[in-house]
Amino acid sequence: MYRAFAVVSTLALTLCSALAHTTALDDEAASLAQEFVGRLQPQLKQAMEEGGPGMAIEVCSHQAPLIADTLSAESGWIIKRVSLKSRNASRAVPDQWERAVLEDFDRRAAAGESPVTIHYSETTPSHYRHLQAQGAEGLCLMCHGKDLAPTVNEALELYYPDDMATGYTAGQVRGAISLTKSISR
Ligand code: HEC
Repeated sequence: MYRAFAVVSTLALTLCSALAHTTALDDEAASLAQEFVGRLQPQLKQAMEEGGPGMAIEVCSHQAPLIADTLSAESGWIIKRVSLKSRNASRAVPDQWERAVLEDFDRRAAAGESPVTIHYSETTPSHYRHLQAQGAEGLCLMCHGKDLAPTVNEALELYYPDDMATGYTAGQVRGAISLTKSISR
């Protein structure tokens, strides 16, 4: 009887510490995802105001990869953006795990869940991985929607000849911020 109780309480403790561990990493991933958006969006908005979407695409082509790399170096995480329909063919093509999660995100959004709340994380013996969905909304559709302005099409052809990231409508999942951290137990 006592023995059974000891086993159960040890199990509970182990589970609790595993949960606490995951929650801390979840929080860290969520705040890094927010930080990424917080660094990129003002640059995008400013470029749009100063030179329209054509210039914003040029600025984004430099700044988005730079922000991802800087934030990765600062945090020790691997931070990138991925999509089932990538714009940046050299950075945004998902690996197998990311692809499966993104496909699930599409199903969740189609079932009515808001992309803002759609995220998923998984812990393996060596890594913690987290994907935070990014939804297509008003501003995004100027560069990711249907019937794009001629200046947008021109800039996309110039900077992203392999672009697949158009044709979205509001509420769809445009892609996700992917955050990976090595863990040793
Ligand atoms: C001014 C045009 C423009 C607007 C507006 C814009 N994007 Fe993009 N988006 C881009 C460009 C250019 C890239 C490629 C950046 C790179 O090379 O990393 C990109 C890449 C992305 C990616 C990375 C995956 C990929 O396909 O390369 C995601 C996710 C994304 N955009 C989501 C959004 C969301 C969500 C919004 C609205 C909040 C938005 N974008 C608004 C131009 C734009």
